[in-house]
Amino acid sequence: MSEDFDAVDVIRAKRDRHPLTTAQIDWVVDAYTREVVADEQMSALAMAVLLNGMDRREIADWTAAMIASGERMDFSGLSRPTADKHSTGGVGDKITLPLAPLVAACGVAVPQLSGRGLGHTGGTLDKLESVPGWRAALSNEEMFAQLEDVGAVICAAGSGLAPADKRLYALRDVTGTVEAIPLIASSIMSKKIAEGTGTLVLDVKVGSGAFMKDLDDARELARTMVALGTDAGVHTVALLTDMETPLGLTAGNALEVRESVEVLAGGGPSDVVDLTVALAREMLAGAGRTDEDPAEALRDGRAMDTWRRMIAAQGGDPDAELPVAQERHEVTAERDGVLGRLDALAVGVAAWRLGAGRARKEDPVQAGAGVEMHAKPGDRVRAGQPLLTLHTDTPERFARAEEILQDSYDIVDDVADASTHDLVLDRVSAR
Ligand code: URA
Repeated sequence: MSEDFDAVDVIRAKRDRHPLTTAQIDWVVDAYTREVVADEQMSALAMAVLLNGMDRREIADWTAAMIASGERMDFSGLSRPTADKHSTGGVGDKITLPLAPLVAACGVAVPQLSGRGLGHTGGTLDKLESVPGWRAALSNEEMFAQLEDVGAVICAAGSGLAPADKRLYALRDVTGTVEAIPLIASSIMSKKIAEGTGTLVLDVKVGSGAFMKDLDDARELARTMVALGTDAGVHTVALLTDMETPLGLTAGNALEVRESVEVLAGGGPSDVVDLTVALAREMLAGAGRTDEDPAEALRDGRAMDTWRRMIAAQGGDPDAELPVAQERHEVTAERDGVLGRLDALAVGVAAWRLGAGRARKEDPVQAGAGVEMHAKPGDRVRAGQPLLTLHTDTPERFARAEEILQDSYDIVDDVADASTHDLVLDRVSAR
């Protein structure tokens, strides 16, 4: 088959800061999916995009080309509207677990296609796989049936959805090109638009434990994604939320499931509850269900009922004991005072080193491994009190986890010296 373009010309154009044409973008994404454009050529192009950027038209074209590389799902036959949430990834970010059943309990279907963790941020599927019997792989027919019956599905994205992104994301991961805003925005939005949700709420994390360390960059990413979603006919809103410190009091697979169940039972850490309710409100508003109060559905047990049905529908036992790590080790406060800071990135890396995450796609994860936190910034602590409990099945991992945690926190004299942040930093919607 003769090709319309030459990959080297496309790379040179972006290297020399020229916008790529729609035809060039369509061709290069398609040719990369067909393996006509080689990994080393796409790596060079991704680096040129990271360094020189793309304008809004190029990003929209790139997203459309990635959507066109695979199938599109269609939920218009369901009896209720659909809404989905996507987080750009953070430490202790288990929000999807209570959120999906909560929104479903309020009458909106949630088709949540999720991924596994890579690096220091955990993956929703890894967390749910710590529930005995639960399975992530569903056929499209099973997914539709569960959405109609239970209202919420959290499952693995099938290989048919935006296959160009799957190849490109793996390549970016090993070529230092993950952080390009045009590539992040098109990667996330191509999957979400192809998934066919009616409403999309984006949780764009900002801070040490997030891709975006800086509020202005996060705002730019949020604006880009909201524009892409809106132009594709998806009601899209973004919340920018704090990721300087971990969410909740746990980071690790089964540990996070346990905390999510506490939230569904009407308890749990206040930041997890508040963010779950804030995102639920946005999803319900986008889907036209402003008559429902998600805080009430958490309190009255409806969200918990839906969680139990959602887990059982995918083979899981909601009453089963969750796995517990074989070994524990405590990090204690060296003096009386106030926890001034607890760094999200360090906690995420520690949980990963303890076995909660993986270094390569094919590595297994430990269900019970992770970090349990006993205080949040601003809390009073006493000398000798446990600040963190480290969990793992492989105790030789404790030393490397402790190493990264050494400078991860401060104890200060006064609450006024603690570094606390608002949970929701900004909201971005279509103009
Ligand atoms: N999540 C994605 O799906 N893609 C990115 O590029 C970054 C985060």
